[in-house]
Amino acid sequence: MLASRLIAHRGCSLLAPENTLAAMSLSKKLGVDWVELDANLMGDGTVVVFHDDRLERLTNGQGMLMDLSVEDLAGLDAGSHFSAAYQGETIPTLEQMLKQLDRDQLGLNLEIKCYPSFTAEQIVLPVIALLERHWTAFERLIISCFETEVLTLIRQHKPDWPLGQLWEELPSDWQTTVEQLNAVSVHLDHTTLTNAQAKAIKQSGLDLYVYTVNDKTTAKRLFDMGVDGIFTDDPTLF
Ligand code: G3P
Ligand code: MG
Repeated sequence: MLASRLIAHRGCSLLAPENTLAAMSLSKKLGVDWVELDANLMGDGTVVVFHDDRLERLTNGQGMLMDLSVEDLAGLDAGSHFSAAYQGETIPTLEQMLKQLDRDQLGLNLEIKCYPSFTAEQIVLPVIALLERHWTAFERLIISCFETEVLTLIRQHKPDWPLGQLWEELPSDWQTTVEQLNAVSVHLDHTTLTNAQAKAIKQSGLDLYVYTVNDKTTAKRLFDMGVDGIFTDDPTLF
């Protein structure tokens, strides 16, 4: 298994504002080995760590992330939505984030978001360049995405980087997709996973990770089914 049993989802998003440098520092402090984050794109081509395509849920700004450029980040508060203690926390660039996580020797599941406002190529090429420059250990990395097109593009450029295919629900042709990608893992919504699917995925030699699990009973049931690791918003629950 490449990742660990507990992967801090968006950092520890029940304990700190999701996808921020503070959330990742807290994950490290809590002894988590792996974190998950969402890579996203701004209009000037800067890759940032941010889940949504719009600003309202997570910041004091309004409108589309795509309408912003890197100069706008300093004026956006991405911490107050969580609590006053995090006021002034900003949306990190992927470059800032990779430097921190690599320095902290954390494992990283880098999920690439691919919204309709940009193309696969627009986000994949800068993500590859940033990882080449700022990531030192590829045994501590899995790149995942819901869009197979994005992963296929990465595979064309990087024959040996570890890729994980994300699905809400396992499609009937999953084996063809993971074979063509030469993926290392399958990542699923745990509420859709059946025993038979878990068994088949494990039999094919892939790692199986599921999101998002925030209670012990469910986690135990999933591990008993053969799941390798869970994405959780609060690793202290386990
Ligand atoms: O990577 C697992 C999970 O994060 C996928 O869904 O919406 O939380 O990014 P989402
Ligand atoms: Mg995610």
